[in-house]
Amino acid sequence: MKVLITGTTKGIGKAIAEKFLNCGYTVFGFDILPSTINNKNYTHYNLDIKQKDLPIINEISYLINNAGTQNNNDIDNNLKGTINITEFYGIQKHIKAIVNICSTSAHNGAEFPEYSASKGGVLSYTKNVASRVAKFGATCNSISPGGVITDLNKHILQDKNLYQQVLNETTLNKWATPEEIAEWAYFICVVNKSMTAQDIIIDNGEMSKFNFIW
Ligand SMILES: NC(=O)c1ccc[n+]([C@@H]2O[C@H](COP(=O)([O-])OP(=O)(O)OC[C@H]3O[C@@H](n4cnc5c(N)ncnc54)[C@H](O)[C@@H]3O)[C@@H](O)[C@H]2O)c1
Repeated sequence: MKVLITGTTKGIGKAIAEKFLNCGYTVFGFDILPSTINNKNYTHYNLDIKQKDLPIINEISYLINNAGTQNNNDIDNNLKGTINITEFYGIQKHIKAIVNICSTSAHNGAEFPEYSASKGGVLSYTKNVASRVAKFGATCNSISPGGVITDLNKHILQDKNLYQQVLNETTLNKWATPEEIAEWAYFICVVNKSMTAQDIIIDNGEMSKFNFIW
């Protein structure tokens, strides 16, 4: 079965690609950067998810929209790019599941303004797509991570004080790994059959952290 994943050169997208490859799937990856995956079942396309001239790849079963930026044309990349890819590859009769990598920012408005707005759009667009792929028996859901240990947060990870500050914002005092998010993406695509138009928050309890004042 064919899986299309965007943003596969680094971070969460690379981990999702490796998960599907380890499970025997044929994976197609899109990224503006060259491939870092060496596997006979992997095909890399050096492209921007915003571009209109996209390669023909027929009969995609699973689509994972993961490519994203933080504070760099986020509405164009994270929202419009996701819409561009989904409308071209996702709305067709062979599709079984679409997973969009969203963010807790979509829920609480935290982080950069355009980033937050872009992810809020992805959250809503996920529900729109879910209603349109239902006729194919397919699901569409999103995953909203809190902090994940990737290059996107390199400057925080390299600064011991900053990193401790962000960990203090979580209930579990840690961030997630890309491999953990990949397990969720795989589960929602392949195992899940009945959840659609939903969002799963994986944030180490960051959004639910509170002090009980009595
Ligand atoms: N890391 C986190 O803490 C975190 C938290 C919440 C949500 N997310 C989301 O998860 C997704 C992946 O983030 P990550 O942390 O793995 O980031 P990352 O920077 O490590 O990897 C992102 C990948 O996407 C590619 N990419 C970016 N824009 C692209 C475009 N226009 N076309 C094609 N490829 C493009 C990059 O080249 C890179 O390989 C993003 O959508 C991000 O918003 C990340």
